[in-house]
Amino acid sequence: MFDIPVYRPDLGGNEKKYVNECLDTSWISSRGRFVNDFETSFASRVGVKHAASVCNGTVALHLALMALGIGPGDEVIVPTLTYIASVNAITYTGATPVFVDSERATWQVDPDDIRRHITPRTRAIMPVHLYGQACDMDAIMAIAQEHRLFVVEDCAEAFGTLIRERHVGTFGDISTFSFFGNKTITTGEGGMVVSDDKTLIERARHLKGQGLAAHREYWHDVVGYNYRMTNIEAAIGLAQLERADSFIARKRALAAGYKERLKGLSVEVHAEAPGTVHSYWMCSILVARAEQREPLRAHLARAGIETRPLFYPVHTMPMHSRSFRRHPIAEDLAWRGINLPSWPGLTDEQLDTICMQIARFLEERT
Ligand SMILES: Cc1ncc(COP(=O)(O)O)c(C=O)c1O
Repeated sequence: MFDIPVYRPDLGGNEKKYVNECLDTSWISSRGRFVNDFETSFASRVGVKHAASVCNGTVALHLALMALGIGPGDEVIVPTLTYIASVNAITYTGATPVFVDSERATWQVDPDDIRRHITPRTRAIMPVHLYGQACDMDAIMAIAQEHRLFVVEDCAEAFGTLIRERHVGTFGDISTFSFFGNKTITTGEGGMVVSDDKTLIERARHLKGQGLAAHREYWHDVVGYNYRMTNIEAAIGLAQLERADSFIARKRALAAGYKERLKGLSVEVHAEAPGTVHSYWMCSILVARAEQREPLRAHLARAGIETRPLFYPVHTMPMHSRSFRRHPIAEDLAWRGINLPSWPGLTDEQLDTICMQIARFLEERT
């Protein structure tokens, strides 16, 4: 246990009241008012027409890809610098993930490298808005239109992230969110598939509920899944949504606080891309040299401060070794990056302590 963890959800609003309503009314499975209320409120908060709740962000991606009909023989372009779930979901469909590199400045998928990896088998691009930063959706949508490709936005880490005041997840054909316990809003475990396209969301709904046919009980016309969110999870989600603005405001203030306190030190704080609002799911830094990363993390751990390494690029993992090639920017970022404590309840005093410990380490070691 760390004195200062990387994340701790704030469940101090209506969460308990709404969960108690589920218990009192015995609506504890995937039917009940909170499922519908959460879906409707979420769709309106993000600015999409349709939202289907699911039991986590990984299956949300699986359903989004299935709804687009992606399967064996297809290629889906995905950044190698992402959480494993983005890539696993592509693999579940039988399609092949095609890894591309990141942009140095934003750490997001590089549109030029997307272009270089398009083949006749490419069906879709999956931009991932990593750590709450927005991808360059103008460039990605232009490439998709030119090559007639689908776009699945993985917004698991990007609730609250905007491009010119428009929420991420509203640019592509279909998009997904995660509500895991460390996400900007949480349901414990949970996810959402969103789209303006009614047909795509109807397909996702059909698949998430065992492929139940519309007009006959216990009649299933496709091989579906049980990917439903429970009413209890949705109850927590609705309560979280009520306070989402304050969570995001505090997380942005923390990022500004890190930037201010770490100014002049030899670390680079993840910068906000121009024209966007970074929701800072994770406030992250790069150390100057990869060899400093683990000693700094160990130093912070000794001071009771939890940190995380940036994700390991997925192309370096054993199950993808047959398609191994260099993605130098993603690799460089990954070996040098650290996620710092980023939860909205973090106090200014804790922020002082973390930054003071980083400064102390850098003074002693450089
Ligand atoms: C980029 C990304 N995609 C997908 C997921 C999967 O979400 P979940 O953990 O809810 O399955 C995560 C989350 O943890 C993520 O960070």
